[in-house]
Amino acid sequence: MANSRVKVGIIGSQFQADIHAASLQIMPDEAEVVAVASPTPGNAAALASKFKIPRVFTDYREMLKEKDIEMVTIATPNSLHAQMTKDCAAAGKHIVCEKPLAMTVAEGEEMIAVAKRHGVLLMYGEELLFTPKYLKAKEMADAGAFGKIYLIKQSEKHFGPHSEWFWDVNRSGGGAFMDLGCHGIAFCYWFMGRSPIKSIYCQMGTYVHAGKTQAEDDSLCIMEFANGAVALIENSWARRGGMDDRIEVFGAEGVTYANLHMGNALPTYSENGYGYAVEKAPTTKGWTYPVFEELWNYGTPQELTHFARCVRGKETPRVTGEDGLVVMHALYAGYASAGGGRKIALPFQAPAVKKPIDLWLNGPSRRAV
Ligand SMILES: NC(=O)c1ccc[n+]([C@@H]2O[C@H](COP(=O)([O-])OP(=O)(O)OC[C@H]3O[C@@H](n4cnc5c(N)ncnc54)[C@H](O)[C@@H]3O)[C@@H](O)[C@H]2O)c1
Repeated sequence: MANSRVKVGIIGSQFQADIHAASLQIMPDEAEVVAVASPTPGNAAALASKFKIPRVFTDYREMLKEKDIEMVTIATPNSLHAQMTKDCAAAGKHIVCEKPLAMTVAEGEEMIAVAKRHGVLLMYGEELLFTPKYLKAKEMADAGAFGKIYLIKQSEKHFGPHSEWFWDVNRSGGGAFMDLGCHGIAFCYWFMGRSPIKSIYCQMGTYVHAGKTQAEDDSLCIMEFANGAVALIENSWARRGGMDDRIEVFGAEGVTYANLHMGNALPTYSENGYGYAVEKAPTTKGWTYPVFEELWNYGTPQELTHFARCVRGKETPRVTGEDGLVVMHALYAGYASAGGGRKIALPFQAPAVKKPIDLWLNGPSRRAV
């Protein structure tokens, strides 16, 4: 058992589920996917046939009855994370929950408590902590390359998500800030050695997709840390031209810039187009920047391999439900900041809401518009 590969079940069969399955085929030493569960008839079977996954379920609760499955990855809409986590924990399975952790802080707290009660690991799917280029920046920062860091920037932008549910705030909980800002918050917090977040100021709006969603499609977020450093997190569902993800780190004695998709892409011109360039790229004609080893560059194979090693007790989780909960608190403060047009100090006692974006949609500055 100690040396066998961890048996994994995936809940979900589309975008991120595909990445989970592909990631564990790229790095197959520690874990193997043995089952997939997804409700739409044929979808789980299609993923299973693509990745040679032996067992297929339409009801994930049936999959959880499989005794040999040790770790379950949750790659489903945000509104389902909490219930699925609780069901996995009750079935004794270790959990990898995709970002963002939950719809509410209360859900996140309950997920952590339930996992503890059942003695299973709740690991948080934040691959930016495993992205090789960003890890290199962190390694240099920790070695003192930049001196005392006073500013860190992280941004992730594209033209909007691939599935309908993201645009429905009752299923997603929020727009670009929640969907993509959760990466930036977790990343900057981790980069700063988990220095507590002291305050948040956010500005957001729905500039391009107002006909389609109530959610913000662009956001700016400034976070202050207890150690004195500042983070600037920019997110967009309105940015044309495919995925853009980058960081900048500024210290008293140095600086580094990392663009996740450039420098490991091939500047390419094609009249005819070709198969695939990079996540969310709208075309492969004209000038494009196809990236190679895309998933490895994102860090998901490394993340899931690490989590499997944690299940075997070989490593300690580098990113957990508790980190996801810090992000949830920051999301609440960010939306409340944008809704109130003011900086919010943390810890922040938000009113009870069903989803983070309510703090923006129902905020005083928004009502005054
Ligand atoms: N880490 C990342 O960079 C990253 C990237 C994309 C998505 N995500 C996250 O992954 C999660 C899934 O997003 P996605 O892009 O794969 O969405 P998606 O729409 O592509 O897939 C959602 C999947 O959930 C399944 N599903 C819905 N209801 C279900 C149920 N009751 N039981 C089982 N399966 C059910 C759907 O059938 C579908 O297979 C979200 O939380 C999202 O935020 C993370």
